[in-house]
Amino acid sequence: MSTKGNRDFRPSMHFTPSYGWINDPNGLTYDNGTWHLFAQHNPKEAVWGPMHWLHATSTDLLHWKEHGIAMYPDEKLGMIYSGSAIIDKGNTSGLGDGCDPMVLMYTSHGAHEQQSIAYSNDRFHFTPYEGNPVISNDDKRNFRDPKVFRNEIKDCWSMVLAAGDHAEFYASKDLIHWTKTGEFGAAENRLGGVFECTDVFPLKAPDGSEVWVLIVSMALRSQFGGGRMQYFLGTFDGDTFRETIPTDHPRILDSGYDNYAAVTYNGTDRRLMIGWGSSPSYANQAPTGDFCCLMTYVRELSLVETDAGLQLSHSPITPEFDLAEAARKPMPTDLRFPWMYVPEAEGKLPGELFSIHVEAEGPFTLSLFNDDGEHLDVSINNEQKLVVDRIHAGASDFSPVYASGICAVMSQNRTMRGPVKLDLYFDRMFAEMFTDNGTVINSSMVFPKSPYTKASMTGDGTMWIGTPRV
Ligand code: FRU
Repeated sequence: MSTKGNRDFRPSMHFTPSYGWINDPNGLTYDNGTWHLFAQHNPKEAVWGPMHWLHATSTDLLHWKEHGIAMYPDEKLGMIYSGSAIIDKGNTSGLGDGCDPMVLMYTSHGAHEQQSIAYSNDRFHFTPYEGNPVISNDDKRNFRDPKVFRNEIKDCWSMVLAAGDHAEFYASKDLIHWTKTGEFGAAENRLGGVFECTDVFPLKAPDGSEVWVLIVSMALRSQFGGGRMQYFLGTFDGDTFRETIPTDHPRILDSGYDNYAAVTYNGTDRRLMIGWGSSPSYANQAPTGDFCCLMTYVRELSLVETDAGLQLSHSPITPEFDLAEAARKPMPTDLRFPWMYVPEAEGKLPGELFSIHVEAEGPFTLSLFNDDGEHLDVSINNEQKLVVDRIHAGASDFSPVYASGICAVMSQNRTMRGPVKLDLYFDRMFAEMFTDNGTVINSSMVFPKSPYTKASMTGDGTMWIGTPRV
């Protein structure tokens, strides 16, 4: 039975389309005080369909204003698939009319996937370049999602895109003529599946060295959960990426299934990432009525050293919350085995937008409950794993993949030993969890029949409940 639209699940502080469908964040670029966000969009229905680009802007990365459709499917070249945006400083493309234009680079998805550009002189009205496609293709089946960036090493534009089982790199002086410069990933990919939405950028490691990060979304079969993001650490010589800090296991970007196609902003020195807060395997069935889906909170990325080596760390940009310590439940006086007593704290939730902060000496379980007996459970278990269990969190019968074990109970090894700090941010149907200095994270959609009203924590620690500051 579908529960589509059985109550209002629209988050209040995450970007959602006013109507219809969104998937991947596209064209993330900062320009003159404005953060631009575009999204893969079907304006007709809250399911995936003919892809347009929806445009929104923000001045604080929290409140978004929707501006309608920026790019429409092209009769000849096809739908407008994912891509990126850049402010063309110095008007290298010649497409600016007395100014530095904003240039979008995207995949034209028709009989084949080819790369095209569009430009805007006012940042809000976009004209497809008349010579599109700028990179043609008539044989590769998967060849998409160009991420353009300024290449300081070679003083040119560079672009990375997803090409089947690997990423490809291209360079250009004018954003119009492109030459291939390298490939990465066919041998290094530790997950299988098809590459999508690649991105590559440098970060400073704690020892001061520069490390390049390549992130990729992997389209996996649904028995493996469908969509998963992976990242690699290495170098970029101006032509191609090489992995220099390999691991035995894939580096999973987010242990939750609701962070896909995440990419980072151009036009700023900060490395800011937004992900699509859902999964290609079940977003079409999500019970959210006439809109689907949402973008994650923006996350600032950095590299941190952990007990498990160098890791990507996510620090979310969220509304401000006032934290209040939750009351500890008194220890029962009639306990027969007092040494088996597990301390518990409990508190009322302030609504459907809140945060929770936990500090614990060891394993704990944090649960959010509603009055219908549903609960979302988040633990650090005895095996030192973060476990997010949404089996009883709310509706799950809308999709066998969402309800399947792999997507219902998610776990990830901790990267740090000893005491643990965890932050959970909740917005009506979206939970984002960060622990071990932002290196172990989980983003998960949940659909409780009624709002969660109570949080409890069992374990040796303290819980604070955060009320949004108005
Ligand atoms: C990832 C993706 C991209 C593609 C877009 C189409 O979710 O499949 O590879 O460009 O979505 O909407």
